[in-house]
Formats: sequence, C-alpha cells, structure tokens
Amino acid sequence: MAKLSGTAIIVLVMFAFLAEQSVAGRYYDDKVEDKVRKEVKNAIEKNPGIGAALVRLVFHDCWVNGCDGSVLLDKTPTDGLNTEKKAVNNIGLDGFGVIDDIKDKVKNDNVSCADIIVLAGRDAASILSGGKITYPITRGRLDGVGSSAAEADRALPTSDFDFDQLKTNFDSGFRKFTVEELVVLSGAHSIGVAHLSSYADRLTAATPDFQIDSSYRAALNATTPPALLKQGQDPTVPNNVRDETQAFQQKAEYDPVAMGVNPTKGVLDNSYYHNTLENKVLFKSDWVLRTDGEAAGKLVEYRDKPEEWNKDFAAAMAKLSSLPAQGKNLEVRKNCRVINNQY
Ligand code: HEM
Ligand SMILES: *[C@@H]1O[C@H](CO)[C@@H](O)[C@H](O)[C@H]1NC(C)=O
Ligand SMILES: *[C@@H]1O[C@H](CO)[C@@H](O)[C@H](O)[C@H]1NC(C)=O
Repeated sequence: MAKLSGTAIIVLVMFAFLAEQSVAGRYYDDKVEDKVRKEVKNAIEKNPGIGAALVRLVFHDCWVNGCDGSVLLDKTPTDGLNTEKKAVNNIGLDGFGVIDDIKDKVKNDNVSCADIIVLAGRDAASILSGGKITYPITRGRLDGVGSSAAEADRALPTSDFDFDQLKTNFDSGFRKFTVEELVVLSGAHSIGVAHLSSYADRLTAATPDFQIDSSYRAALNATTPPALLKQGQDPTVPNNVRDETQAFQQKAEYDPVAMGVNPTKGVLDNSYYHNTLENKVLFKSDWVLRTDGEAAGKLVEYRDKPEEWNKDFAAAMAKLSSLPAQGKNLEVRKNCRVINNQY
C-alpha cells in the first residue's frame, strides 16, 4: 500500500513536470533546441511551405563541403556575390529568413549557423511527419568561410540524372551514401514544390511514355505547359500529386485513398513510394530509381512499410546532418549571411 502510493506520487510528480513543460511550450530538455523548435513551429504555421524548404536546406548545405553553413552566405572574399545561393541547382532554395530569426534568438548561445540548419531541418521533418520522424542532433558544427555557386553546381545532383549518376553522386568523396539511403532520402520529395524548369524535360516527346504516367503528364502539361518557359515564366507545382487540387488529381487519375495513401496534404510520409511505382512523380531522378534492381526493391519495401521508412529516413537525415565540414578556418558566424571578418 505504502509502496503503491509512493509510485503514485512519483507518477503524479512526473505528470506535473510534463504539464509544466508543455505549459512553458518546451519540447526538448535543451534551451537552444527548444528555441529552434519554437521558431520552426511558428514559421510553418505562418507559411506551411517553409517546412519543406528547411528540410531541403539540410541536403543542400551538407552535400556541398559538409554541414558548414556555406549555403547561407550572401558574399565571401573569394567569390563575391557568386555564392551557393546563385547556383542553378539551388533554384527555389528558401528558409533563409527563418534561419536568421533563429540566429537572433540564440545569439548569446554560441550556436553555429551550420547547427541551426540541421536543427531546423530536423524540427521541420518532425512537424511535417506529425511527430513520426525524430532523431537526435549533437551540436558543435562550425561555419565555413567559403561558398561558391560553381562548386554547388558540381556537387548537387540534378533532376535529369540517370541512376548511375545518382549512385555515384551519393557515394562520392566524403559522403558515402548507399543506394538504400538514396532511395530513403528521395522520399523527401513527398513534400514541397518544384519549378517547371525542373521537370519540363518529362513533358516533351523526348521522354518515352513508360517513364511518366500519361494521365499525370497530361495534367501537368495542361496546368504548366513547357511553352511557358519560353515566355520567361517558371511556375511551381507540388512535388507530390497528393498535394494537387482535386481537379488535377481527377485528370491525373490519382485517387490517394484507393492507392492506400493518406490524402492529407503536406505530410512528410511514404506516399512518394506509392507515386513512384505508378510513374506519378515529377523528376526523372525520381523515376530512374525503378531502373535499378536494388533501388526498385527498396521502393516497394518503403511503399509497403511506412514505419520502416520513417525510421530509415530519420537515420539517413541524422547521417546527412553529421557530414563534417570540409574547409579550413572554421568559425561560429555572428551573422549567418557573412563570414566574421566581413561582419
Ligand atoms: C536524389 C537526388 C535529388 C535530386 C536530383 C533533387 C532535385 C530536386 C529538385 C529539382 C527540386 C525542385 C527545385 C525547384 O524546381 O524549385 C527539389 C525539391 C526538393 N527536394 Fe530534392 N533532390 C534530390 C534529393 C533530395 C534530398 C536528399 C532531399 C532531402 C533530404 C531533398 C529534399 C527536397 C525538398 C524538401 C524539396 C522541396 C523544396 C521546397 O518546396 O522548398 N531532395 N529537389
Ligand atoms: C563555441 O562553440 C564552438 C563549437 O562548439 C567551440 O569550439 C568554441 O570553443 C565555443 N566558444 C565559446 C566562447 O564557448
Ligand atoms: C501538351 O499540351 C500541348 C498544348 O498545350 C499539346 O499540344 C501537347 O500535345 C501536349 N503534350 C502532351 C505530352 O500531353
């Protein structure tokens, strides 16, 4: 009896503690991580599309010279204004304002901009997955002093890559990502948007019909005809046909519920694998995963096992977020947009 009430008291105290935490709006035990989470949550509430941008930012920072905040620089002494932001392959990159806001909130906490990117991307992935994708981040990254558009264009994969190019890119240099991890991370294309110029190749006769579902292609071609590019227009569409309007989905003969896909828009989940296996994905680089035996097997596995994808995606994001900075003269930047000696 005495023992039981002892346990009851401990449980009550724990509940009180948890309640206290949630009243204070706390999410992590750590003050800095909590501030980041709060900013990311606010930013997504204001602009739901910013969550996808923050997830992509992790990839585009860490893939080029490791996680070093190089993607955030507006200028450098060596490349002037020709920083990674100017790279063709960084088209549509966003989230810089959120990173600035977070930096301001943690300005007295000695947090690098590289750490802020991976923390913010982690929180965005958690929020967009409804808490199903979570992983720990250890801080201590430092910021680089270089950032080159040409280097980013050499390092980042493009949407017209074939399978071997993707595989080589993921395995190369300091990265060492496997085919399985390539397939896992490509699932990030369940969220966000893409410009017409990133998939226009798939709407022309140059792409054989078996590489893209004909109804989906017709729907894309009708809403964003490739001819717009010649008029200087480059509109965006959702990466995920799940996030399209009902009219679009009807035209594309896409019925999420019938396919076993959660129809809720904007969710980071395994719907990408359902879509890819039906050829209803935007990029050639998505479709080509079907052309390799191992990758195709993984597509089926992740389509059929959503929990496994959540877990593997979290692990691959943690690995991505840990790619070491490759440069020298690292520092904790005061302003994420300029190196300290230009501050
Ligand atoms: C496998 C090679 C990959 C290629 C070729 C690729 C290519 C692209 C392209 C072309 C876009 C659209 C850009 C635009 O037109 O605005 C895009 C968007 C996106 N990518 Fe990838 N990507 C790849 C891998 C990844 C990885 C590994 C991640 C994350 C871990 C990722 C996350 C995203 C997200 C979230 C968006 C939407 C961004 C937004 O809405 O702001 N991608 N990707
Ligand atoms: C700031 O953080 C970096 C990276 O963790 C560390 O090397 C440095 O010593 C820290 N500086 C201060 C003043 O705490
Ligand atoms: C795309 O739409 C144009 C008209 O906007 C049409 O001429 C062309 O045949 C269509 N192509 C495909 C592949 O649907």
